[in-house]
Amino acid sequence: MPDRILGHLKLLDGDFGGFAIDRLQHSLQTATRAHRDGRGENYVVMALLHDIGDTLGSYNHPEIAAAILRPFVSEELHWIADKHGAFQGYYFFHHLGLDREVREGFRGHPHFEACAEFCERYDQAAFDPTYESAPLAFFEPMVRRVFAKPLNSIYARAPEAA
Ligand SMILES: [Fe+2]
Ligand SMILES: [Fe+2]
Repeated sequence: MPDRILGHLKLLDGDFGGFAIDRLQHSLQTATRAHRDGRGENYVVMALLHDIGDTLGSYNHPEIAAAILRPFVSEELHWIADKHGAFQGYYFFHHLGLDREVREGFRGHPHFEACAEFCERYDQAAFDPTYESAPLAFFEPMVRRVFAKPLNSIYARAPEAA
């Protein structure tokens, strides 16, 4: 599974979608910014994968990253991945004639601030073509560790009764 995830991330190479840097560089920059800001490994891997669904789910890409991450990360990190699209909208929806305040529909949710922070500090900041991101190889060991064992899954054996 980690090999397929790393392979799929590489499909984002050359996918510019109207931005100054391609989706792979954007993903690396998001993860690098989170790592250099002292975020933990699971957070950094979530940041690396947050747009991995772009190639298959052009209209709902956050849900794809969220589904892949769900068994392996906390509820908060899953929620950030799942909802980052609505929160990212704050930074550009108004340029497309859309409502930049759609994230307000989640105001009051326990993970609202965490998701807003992810988008403000890392995601929307990660389109800088002059930023020196770490290469994918730097994150590979982290991806392998995070995806080594699910925290929760209907396919995982139930813990032994104590
Ligand atoms: Fe995204
Ligand atoms: Fe993004």
